[in-house]
Amino acid sequence: MGRVALVTGGSRGIGAAIAKALAAEGCAVAATYGGNDEAAAKFTAETSIKTYKWSVGDYDACKDGIAQVEADLGPVEILVNNAGITRDAPFHKMSPQQWHEVIDTNLTGVFNMTHNVWGGMRERKFGRIVTISSINGQKGQFAQANYAASKAGDIGFTKSLAQEGARAGITVNILCPGYINTEMMSTIPEKVMNEVILPQIPVGRLGEPEEMARAVVFLTSDDAGFITGSTISANGGQYLA
Ligand SMILES: NC(=O)c1ccc[n+]([C@@H]2O[C@H](COP(=O)([O-])OP(=O)(O)OC[C@H]3O[C@@H](n4cnc5c(N)ncnc54)[C@H](OP(=O)(O)O)[C@@H]3O)[C@@H](O)[C@H]2O)c1
Repeated sequence: MGRVALVTGGSRGIGAAIAKALAAEGCAVAATYGGNDEAAAKFTAETSIKTYKWSVGDYDACKDGIAQVEADLGPVEILVNNAGITRDAPFHKMSPQQWHEVIDTNLTGVFNMTHNVWGGMRERKFGRIVTISSINGQKGQFAQANYAASKAGDIGFTKSLAQEGARAGITVNILCPGYINTEMMSTIPEKVMNEVILPQIPVGRLGEPEEMARAVVFLTSDDAGFITGSTISANGGQYLA
């Protein structure tokens, strides 16, 4: 049996592709989700990867959920912080609720999950942590002050923890996808997709979740022990950071 991996938001989209790719590498994988029971049940039926439901925004739920995963599979050696949401609005219309929901999930959720595996990884002198940020955390985006702030925060968090984890054998890296073909993209009107978004992407298409998964598989492999604190852009050439 390979390493034990936990993927947040692993029931759909990019996270599902990551969970499947890690399982294909021989990892024992746990995938979490926030509320969509139907999607999670379908994912488990199709992949045999067990899913666990809790909100990454709730510290105690993360602590209890990780304890359950570890009782089922063993100590978490690979953590992929993938769960994320958008609540877009131009800033003058953005409500405090839209701000807090996004920060609580995308940034505090990363703290909540990482904090609850960090001690074990330090003790065992091994860990791989990859957080899924976004191109919009690198460059900002109209109507996404909340989302861009959360995703930029993830980058600073990662660079700091990389320094703290280095001597303990823990690597901490970040992947910044561009526009990827998932349900998150389905909220974008077709006209905006064809006339605004696709023309910005030099490769001329959206990325696929499986392409993000291959990058995560590499970053979480034993072979990637010298790569830490890195920000990997995977955006089809849209933004060269
Ligand atoms: N799609 C893109 O183009 C794109 C680009 C750049 C970055 N990203 C980032 O990549 C990650 C995955 O995006 P995606 O497009 O694959 O998203 P998605 O298809 O909307 O899936 C999101 C996943 O996160 C889970 N989730 C949401 N809120 C949660 C919470 N509070 N606690 C636990 N799980 C929660 C969802 O669970 P439920 O099914 O229960 O809701 C689902 O499994 C996100 O962090 C996103 O910001 C995406």
